[in-house]
Amino acid sequence: MILDEFIVRKFKPEDACQVSRLITTTFNAQVGRKLPSGVKKVFSEVNTSDKILELSKRGEVFVADKGGKIIGIIAGIDNNRVIRLFVYKKFQGQGIAKKLMRRLESLYKKRAAKSIHVRSSLYAVDFYNVMGYKKVTRVIHNKDGMAYQPMIKYLS
Ligand SMILES: CC(C)(COP(=O)(O)OP(=O)(O)OC[C@H]1O[C@@H](n2cnc3c(N)ncnc32)[C@H](O)[C@@H]1OP(=O)(O)O)[C@@H](O)C(=O)NCCC(=O)NCCS
Repeated sequence: MILDEFIVRKFKPEDACQVSRLITTTFNAQVGRKLPSGVKKVFSEVNTSDKILELSKRGEVFVADKGGKIIGIIAGIDNNRVIRLFVYKKFQGQGIAKKLMRRLESLYKKRAAKSIHVRSSLYAVDFYNVMGYKKVTRVIHNKDGMAYQPMIKYLS
């Protein structure tokens, strides 16, 4: 069974290229599928290997590793915000994102966070609902043409 075949571990600098590819490929195939090409371009530019490396230095990044292939990634900053969560389409629906979320939530709990915030893609709102997150406001449209749903989970 797949759950026995991947591990969640801390990001290493040599993962940056694979993580960048995972994020941009999955974004283009799902979240950004119907968005203008300019939006996809902007998203790619903020998720290059170098940007992922930078992110790993100022926040927390965990990956789901299946025999050396990175199939999922979660990133958080400020000890209370999720800013990236992606699982390759082929591996979705098998509990990988849930395991990544639990890893980050448990770290933030240890650091005494009272709540966790996320700007969910419209694609992932139902996933976050299942994970106990609630909508905070209406959907927000940013200047790049992206829409997101602010959500929060209070940690007990
Ligand atoms: C959202 C995403 C990360 C979920 O990854 P995943 O590995 O398939 O999620 P899991 O298998 O861990 O699902 C956990 C639970 O959420 C549910 N779930 C996951 N995606 C769902 C969806 N789109 N709609 C409804 N429920 C969903 C699962 O059924 C599961 O419920 P269960 O625990 O009751 O069985 C993945 O679909 C993805 O990468 N999407 C594209 C990128 C994206 O939108 N990322 C969010 C950026 S903020």
